[in-house]
Amino acid sequence: MNPLKRFLVESKNQWGWLILLIVALIGASIFEVSAPIFLGNIVDAIVQGLTNGQDMSIIMSSVDSIILILIALYAGHALCTYFGEYMMASIAASMVLTLRNRMSKHLYTLPIGYFHNHQRGDILSRLTSDLDAIEETVQEGVPGIISSIIGIVGAIAMMLWISPLLGTSIIGIVLLGMACLAWTSKRARRVYLRNQEALGEFNSGVEEIVIGKSVIQAFSLETTTTDNVTELNATLFKRMRSASFMSQLIYPLVSFLNQISYVIVAIQGGIMVLRGSISIGDIQAFFLYVTQVSDPISRSSYIITKFQETAAALGRIYEVIDAPSEVDDGTITLSATTTTSHKGTIHFDHVDFGYSESNVFMKDLNIHIPGGSMAAIVGPTGAGKSTLVNLIMRFYEVLGGRITIDGVDIRDLSRESLHKEIGMVLQDAWIFTGTIADNIGYGKPNATREEIEYVAKLAMADHFIRTLPQGYDTVLKQGGDDLSQGQRQLITIARAFLADPKILILDEATANVDTRTEVEVQKAMNTLLQGRTSIVIAHRLSTIKNADFLLVVENGTIVETGTHQELMDLGGHYKELYENYAAGMSV
Ligand SMILES: Nc1ncnc2c1ncn2[C@@H]1O[C@H](COP(=O)(O)OP(=O)(O)O)[C@@H](O)[C@H]1O
Ligand SMILES: [Mg+2]
Repeated sequence: MNPLKRFLVESKNQWGWLILLIVALIGASIFEVSAPIFLGNIVDAIVQGLTNGQDMSIIMSSVDSIILILIALYAGHALCTYFGEYMMASIAASMVLTLRNRMSKHLYTLPIGYFHNHQRGDILSRLTSDLDAIEETVQEGVPGIISSIIGIVGAIAMMLWISPLLGTSIIGIVLLGMACLAWTSKRARRVYLRNQEALGEFNSGVEEIVIGKSVIQAFSLETTTTDNVTELNATLFKRMRSASFMSQLIYPLVSFLNQISYVIVAIQGGIMVLRGSISIGDIQAFFLYVTQVSDPISRSSYIITKFQETAAALGRIYEVIDAPSEVDDGTITLSATTTTSHKGTIHFDHVDFGYSESNVFMKDLNIHIPGGSMAAIVGPTGAGKSTLVNLIMRFYEVLGGRITIDGVDIRDLSRESLHKEIGMVLQDAWIFTGTIADNIGYGKPNATREEIEYVAKLAMADHFIRTLPQGYDTVLKQGGDDLSQGQRQLITIARAFLADPKILILDEATANVDTRTEVEVQKAMNTLLQGRTSIVIAHRLSTIKNADFLLVVENGTIVETGTHQELMDLGGHYKELYENYAAGMSV
């Protein structure tokens, strides 16, 4: 469906107001269209009075009442226009508010994969500049287009009523103007679509600079990155220029046709006056009607390009809104159904998976992780270690087979239950803007300060937190740049303690930790693992030697399993990995 049509259909709750708006605008147009007739009457009365040699004061008193009517008409027009605009502002705001809410709510329901495939800058520009463009159009464009249509139809009807002959000539010119309009607006739609795309790309480019500034500088990549953005900017400039060129083209065209109409009225009308088939007052009215027709035509060219722009913006917003949500049709809550046998046993049962159907790089995978045990996943970068845990979290759906926790297919679990079951500590500690206490408490809404301090002690974070000037109330900026990586990681460990999940996943959790806090982080993690099923992914193989068993992954398949000792004795992939690692450690 055309995005504009869809937007109108989905804004049903505003239809009542829209109808009221149309009524107000029709009122305004009726007042506007009837005024020239009375103006013509005044001119005729004066001309007639003068030809009859009447005194000026007598002539004026005969048109008194007409002047009053005119004032009333113009006042009525102003009043209706004011109400129309007033209503439109609130209609536009609430229509866009609804759309913005729908879009931002929907973003929460999208699967993680969506964010891997879409750039943040692009999503942001849809939420901001696209929505702004829509609001502006609805607010200015909708009343503009309605009053244009009514105005044109009204003025044409009046012209035909006064003089069908002269009216027909003018209609010919009007049709020509309409054709020009249709032609430019068709081109403008394409130009605007490309314009918005360029804007999204430019935003993404700028975002990369903002986020990666330190890396860019460290690698002296300023020139490359700047060149890239300059190029995006140049493209944006070109697109914007052709967009505004398209919208500027119509004004001179319409005003040219307008002037032609004046000439026609002057010549054809003049002849008709001489022949006595039309009065001078009527000719004067005609001039005003010509303006009343051509004004909306040149205005609606602008409005139509605005609508094209809006259709493009709406299309991009609907693309997000229509992206399929993450399925969450599981109903089982683990602790409620399996109270006694609930241990956190994880089972991969003939699992097939690939990030795209064409590249299934995990085939017939079978893994059994008994409840309460510690499993370590090792393997080279890109082997699929993180993918395994993404699957347990159901960030992606398996393509074949199933994954169970305590015998229940994870697809039958509600997402909430699944995510409550599993805690995750990743390589990059995620810190949001808020106090340290808020950041720890994130794992359990309405946790008390005592609980927060208790888990901070378990996570060995209490000490450093107390050395901060505001202690637990220290406000961290998003990203937590004012803490060391290790300290940030201790906070996420405390968060995991508080959430107290049955299963714990550590994916390279110590990879970025500075040596200063490394020992503490390691100790804290060991405490955290106790009494839970855990899956640990680590490059530092020394940290996982004590695991109950290791899974060696290569190219999406498990190539070896066993304890550290068993695998060393086996003398295969693991032994090689370990020896490489140990050699790296000793230098
Ligand atoms: N979101 C994703 N979309 C597409 N491919 C991905 C995605 N994440 C990882 N991959 C690919 O899947 C493979 C395994 O990646 P990953 O599980 O992250 O490896 P590891 O954690 O072992 O380093 C790699 O080839 C990687 O490029
Ligand atoms: Mg990984």
